[in-house]
Amino acid sequence: MDKIQVNIKDVLQTVSQADIEALRPEAEASLAKLTSGTGAGADFLGWVKLPAETTDALLDDIAATARSLREACDVVVCIGIGGSYLGAKAVIEALGNSTGATDGPQIMFAGQNIGEDYLYELQEYLRGKRFGIIVISKSGTTTEPAIAFRLLKAQLEQQAGREAASKLIVAITDARRGALRSLATTEGYKTFVIEDNVGGRFSVLTPVGLLPIAVAGHDIHALVEGARQCQKATLDGTDKSALTYAMTRNALYRAGKKIEILVNYNPKLHYFGEWWKQLYGESEGKDHKGIFPAAVDNSTDLHSMGQWIQDGERTIFESVISVERTRHTVVIPTDAENLDGLNFLAGKRVDEVNKMAELGTRIAHVDGGVPNMQITLPALEALYLGQLIYFFEAACGISGYLLGVNPFNQPGVEDYKRNMFALLEKPGYEKETEAIKARL
Ligand code: PA5
Repeated sequence: MDKIQVNIKDVLQTVSQADIEALRPEAEASLAKLTSGTGAGADFLGWVKLPAETTDALLDDIAATARSLREACDVVVCIGIGGSYLGAKAVIEALGNSTGATDGPQIMFAGQNIGEDYLYELQEYLRGKRFGIIVISKSGTTTEPAIAFRLLKAQLEQQAGREAASKLIVAITDARRGALRSLATTEGYKTFVIEDNVGGRFSVLTPVGLLPIAVAGHDIHALVEGARQCQKATLDGTDKSALTYAMTRNALYRAGKKIEILVNYNPKLHYFGEWWKQLYGESEGKDHKGIFPAAVDNSTDLHSMGQWIQDGERTIFESVISVERTRHTVVIPTDAENLDGLNFLAGKRVDEVNKMAELGTRIAHVDGGVPNMQITLPALEALYLGQLIYFFEAACGISGYLLGVNPFNQPGVEDYKRNMFALLEKPGYEKETEAIKARL
């Protein structure tokens, strides 16, 4: 197998093949809207053809910038939140070493929270270290990364000097608008552009994701190549996986399954689940509709969430990311005394045990009334991750249209910001400040 595959046989106890097929004409029409730009949110379809349109010149520029940060820094802090954070984090974790060991700089993240202790401890950790910053914000005005950048920029300038610091900072933002663009121009930072027509949660295959991933030492050419393969096969209709996934999850939703749990059996995929949650949650959760996206890491979470999934309210379905090959081999040894009673596993690979946990869980959950889809990828390698990213993006666009929402806006994200700014008395929010204070 050299590409990802989707298997839906274990949902057929809940929805029939006919229920799923009934959605095909609408799903095909949704895919056509993505390619022709005739659906809702058509201004944000830059991601649809992005992999094929990504030039070698851009990839080479990103790779060269990554090399210079790798040479100059022991730590690179990536500052960003939401779509300007999760894609890079997901791929770096999936391709990296579980212990955090690396042959290049340590990659750290900031601006993805407003934790005072987090920032204090990060600043203490960076004290005296050779560090660099990749600051990412499409709007260039998001509060969380702006706070982190103000603090770390000052620290870097103080440690390295202003001139040297400006060479250790790379900004990824809008081509023209936003405070980060003006700041980068004034300070003379190296910059990359996030195109207007690519929304944050669809931006992992732009410099937003590619630069941090390249600094972490991973093969961005292979990642983009995987996405190109999936783009081509999805758009020319030779691979129906994205359609199948979108149709099946919508058929399940219409049958009352309101919660989708993305399941992995590989701890390297934890943040892939976080990226997927943003992609689907922000795209579909609107107009009081949408499948609630949840994620678990098995077998870890079988010991905490397993009871609920097996036996709780039957409103869930699972999509299991199954990885065929591990990177390494670990065989369980024989023990002459067998005091732990584990000799029945001696000689077996750890992954064999993991695969049996996966299979046993799938059978138990299906028996317990939890429909299961399986998304199999050959290995956690850049090429297949690129395929998986594009697969989920394409299926998300199709799925959102099937649901009847605009998958490419996020009006609900603004509400907390308005209240926060009112409470913090941001200039321009005087009326909101007065109104919110009257409610306290
Ligand atoms: O997907 C989105 O649009 C959001 O989650 C953004 O990615 C997030 O709010 C960060 O925005 P920005 O990149 O403008 O700082």
